[in-house]
Amino acid sequence: PAVGVIVVAAGSGQRLGHGIPKARVLCGGRTLLEHALDAVAASGVAVAVVAVLPPDDPVLTAVVARAAGAARDGAGPVISRVDGGATRVASVRAGLSALPSDVEIVLVHDAARALTPPAVFRRVAEAVHGGAPAVIPVVAVADTIKIVRSGTVESTPDRSGLRAVQTPQGFAASALRSAHAGVAAANPGITDDAMLMEALGVPVQVVDGDPLAFKVTTPLDLAVAEAVIALRGD
Ligand code: C5P
Repeated sequence: PAVGVIVVAAGSGQRLGHGIPKARVLCGGRTLLEHALDAVAASGVAVAVVAVLPPDDPVLTAVVARAAGAARDGAGPVISRVDGGATRVASVRAGLSALPSDVEIVLVHDAARALTPPAVFRRVAEAVHGGAPAVIPVVAVADTIKIVRSGTVESTPDRSGLRAVQTPQGFAASALRSAHAGVAAANPGITDDAMLMEALGVPVQVVDGDPLAFKVTTPLDLAVAEAVIALRGD
């Protein structure tokens, strides 16, 4: 079945504090979006890729146009762009409507997870190919996590059962489309697409994520990403 990838890159990047959309922030001299699109292309999983961008962003539009040209020359996926929305859910929905309708598997990926290894895309896509309607990459959590209310600890969940969730998250396209048509509107606090599946009672399978799939959110994360790229030597 044909795989499409939605790369959501329409966030404002406020926590990074650069005053520009996060996907446009440079890391090792290239935008985070370029790194993310490189990883998608290198994974070889997709026939179509949609980058969801902040409206009226000529820099990121040019990044997508360049990636699309390179993919065309190298028999890679069809890469296009679409305007994002005010929330991540709205941006994913915009990406879904821009994907070709014959795509049967959809991977949703945060551009901010710019250094995600191509193998993670392949693991997620293979698990959906294998019949799982929803698949997420996860890693164990290093910290003890507390539930806190009004400045006081309420409880401590057993750490051995906790996982941090990454992207790309993979779905049967029909399941993701109906989730976005239905429960998304009623659940404004949705932070990832698997939450929509959980709300619908669809089982969500986990596969191994990778520490390099961390989300560039703060200046410290950006420093780590710069160091990783310097070590990689590209
Ligand atoms: O804000 P957060 O870090 O959770 O965003 C995760 C991803 O979702 C980022 O890649 C960001 O660009 C994207 N996003 C989006 N549209 C929004 C908000 C976030 O595409 N309105």
